[in-house]
This record gives sequence, structure tokens and C-alpha cells, in this order.
Amino acid sequence: MLIHSASQLLTLTGGPQRGHELGRLGIIPDGAVLVQDEKVVAVGSSAELRAAYPDEPTLDAGGRVVLPGFVDPHTHVIWVGDRSAEFEMRLQGKTYLEILAAGGGILSTVRATWTASLEKLMQETRPRLWSMFNFGTTTAEAKTGYGLRTSTELRMLQALLALDHEGPLELAITFLGAHAIPPDYKDRPDEYTDLICVTMLPVLKDWWPHNAPYHPMPFVDVFCETGAFSLEQTRRILSAARQLGFPLKIHADEFDNLGGASLAAELGAVSADHLVKTSPEDILALARSQTVAVALPCTPFGLAEAAYTPARAILEADGLLAIATDLNPGTAWCENMQFAMALACRYLRLTPAQAIAASTINAAAAINRADRIGSLEPGKQADLLILSVPDYRHLGYRFGTNLVQTVMKKGRIYSV
Ligand code: NIG
Ligand code: FE
Repeated sequence: MLIHSASQLLTLTGGPQRGHELGRLGIIPDGAVLVQDEKVVAVGSSAELRAAYPDEPTLDAGGRVVLPGFVDPHTHVIWVGDRSAEFEMRLQGKTYLEILAAGGGILSTVRATWTASLEKLMQETRPRLWSMFNFGTTTAEAKTGYGLRTSTELRMLQALLALDHEGPLELAITFLGAHAIPPDYKDRPDEYTDLICVTMLPVLKDWWPHNAPYHPMPFVDVFCETGAFSLEQTRRILSAARQLGFPLKIHADEFDNLGGASLAAELGAVSADHLVKTSPEDILALARSQTVAVALPCTPFGLAEAAYTPARAILEADGLLAIATDLNPGTAWCENMQFAMALACRYLRLTPAQAIAASTINAAAAINRADRIGSLEPGKQADLLILSVPDYRHLGYRFGTNLVQTVMKKGRIYSV
């Protein structure tokens, strides 16, 4: 199929974009893209491609923007239960970490998850995945982390694998057994850390190839934070995971600066996420590494906090920056990357072009998939969006509505 007459075809060619390179959209005016089966075969001007492929069925983009599908590289999309009361508690003055310390927050979702069947986990998660897809996310990372017990964590993984199989949204899966200290280990965080290192990770290493033979190894992630895992505990878990061959991620500096970003750089993590309270030294360490800095602007927004990721400093230091929703029931119930981009433009001070690159090619790099998705180039997966607008700058500028009109996933068309 030949999609033609895009006012602007944003190709995002040339790989992940570091520092001030961020925002290189590779625009083809009056652009076209040829898709065969699941892949992009050619990009060029409408005149060029129509002449070269006269017999191809066509789809008229009608003077609208065409760009790669959004990649959301940080979500906690799978959960059950209801945390709306906590939102009210926070508005009345309790903090997120106080609620967690009192056994609520993440632990409230954990208790609900313990008794949820595989079907129930899937049933509550499925509509959120569709909502993300309709807002233009064609691939998303998805974390466990509400089980905190081997059996429940594996059930969450099983549900994520089944949901990925259902499609159309593709999932990159992360094991987040180190999301919180479970209630049964309340005063024994080191013992829970041992359990993860000695039991959970080896079990997962053995389980994965039997249950997910066609998937890359899951990421292993740790919530490195006051009230969750200390820097030392995080180091033990990520080192053990690395030894077993898992790719790494980290939640760092959401509320306090514990040094998690430097640790991520040191251990070669694929990404370090949140990065609100990150120190200048940690920013430098990150920027000198291959680790992608993932900003989650929906989270401070969701918590009504004033501080956001110092994105400009990360770019100034020549770091690799991506953005994600952090979709989760506690801090940021937002399925919409367009809204994350609108916040990124205002509070991270990105331009629309930078926000788009951070949500496509760089977000793909944050889940190790930049070779397959995140740009429109021959050989890449045909994951793309037709927007309802003529200029890409409407992304970021507009918020609260959906600018996506058509989603193509692996060459198949879905109207929104
Ligand atoms: O990224 N900070 C840790 N995890 C999530 C929140 C999860 C929850 O509250 O359920 C986050 O903000
Ligand atoms: Fe998170």
C-alpha cells in the first residue's frame, strides 16, 4: 500500500538522537510511504513514489501529518483495584511516600493483585491498552511489580505475554519484582532483596524461554528510592540481573537523589527513568553513557508537584532523552503520549520536534528496539500514524484531544 499526500512525512531517520541533535524529524513535504506486508519499503515524495509504484493500492493522507507510531517506554499498565481515594488523600496533604509507608499506594494494588486471576488481570488491562493504541502508541513497555511474590509476578508476566499476543499494541516486558518492599518483609528489606537475587531472578531466567520463546529477555527494573530500595540494594539486584543476562532499567530520583542514575550508567542499563531530583554529576554520568534518560512528565503533573526532569541540562550534556507516560494507578493514570508531549513542551521546555523524537526513535532506544521501530525507513516495521492536522507542531501545542486519525500497526490499518 502506498500512503501519499502527507503534508509532512516525518521519517525520523538516522538513529537515536543525542543532545542538541534531538528534534531531527527528517521531514519530506508532500511525502509518501510504501508499505508491504509488515514493513516499510520506501519513503519519498508523493510524485516520486506514485511514479515508481503505479500499481500499488493507495491511501490518501489528505494533506495531513504522517509519522512513526509513538513508543511509550515506561508503563505500569497492568493492575487491578482502585486508588482514587488516594488522589483525594494527596490533595488533602498526605504525600505519595507517606501513603506507601502506611501500607497503601503500590501495596494497595499489590494486595488486589494477589487475589486476581489471570483473566481478571487481562480484562482490567485490555481497555487501557486499546486506549493507548487509539492515542497512537504502537509499542509500549509494560512492567510487573504488583505481585512482589514469585507466583504473582509470574502471573503478571503471563498476562502481559497473552495481551501482547492479542495485539495490536506490542509490549516490551519488564520484571519489576523490586517495586516495593512487600508487607510480609516490612522490616526485612535486605531479606526481600536476597529473595529477588537468589530466587526470583534465577526462576525467571529459567521460566522465560519456556513461556516466551519468541520474546527478547525481559528488562529487570528497580524502584531506587527512599522507602523502596536503597542504592546498595538496587546495586545488588541489578548486578545479579546483569550477571544472568537481563537488560536493565531503573526508577531513579523520582523523589530523592540516591545516585541511581550513575549506577544505571555504570552497569550499562538500557534506561534510567524519572530523573527529577538528579544531580549535575549524575546527569554527566548518564550523558557519557549509552543509557537513555526517560522523563515522565505526567508523574509530577499527576502528583501536582512543581519539579520536572531537567531535560535541557540532559541535552546540554549530550544525553539521550526519551519521554513516556508512566501510566500507573498511583501517580499518573494517563494512556496518552500526546499529553506527555504537551507537558514536555511546557515543563521540560522541549520543542514539538524534540518531543516527537523523544517519543519515537529515542523511546524505541529506551526499550532496545531502535533497530526495528521508531522511524519510517526501508526495512523497519510499518507502525505509523496519520494525524488529523497539517503541521507536526500541533503535537505539543494541543492537549486534551486526540490528534490521531488512523493507526497502522505492522501494515494493518485501524481507524480511530
Ligand atoms: O513510576 N514510582 C514507582 N512506580 C510508579 C508508581 C506506581 C504506583 O504508584 O502504583 C511510578 O510513579
Ligand atoms: Fe514507573
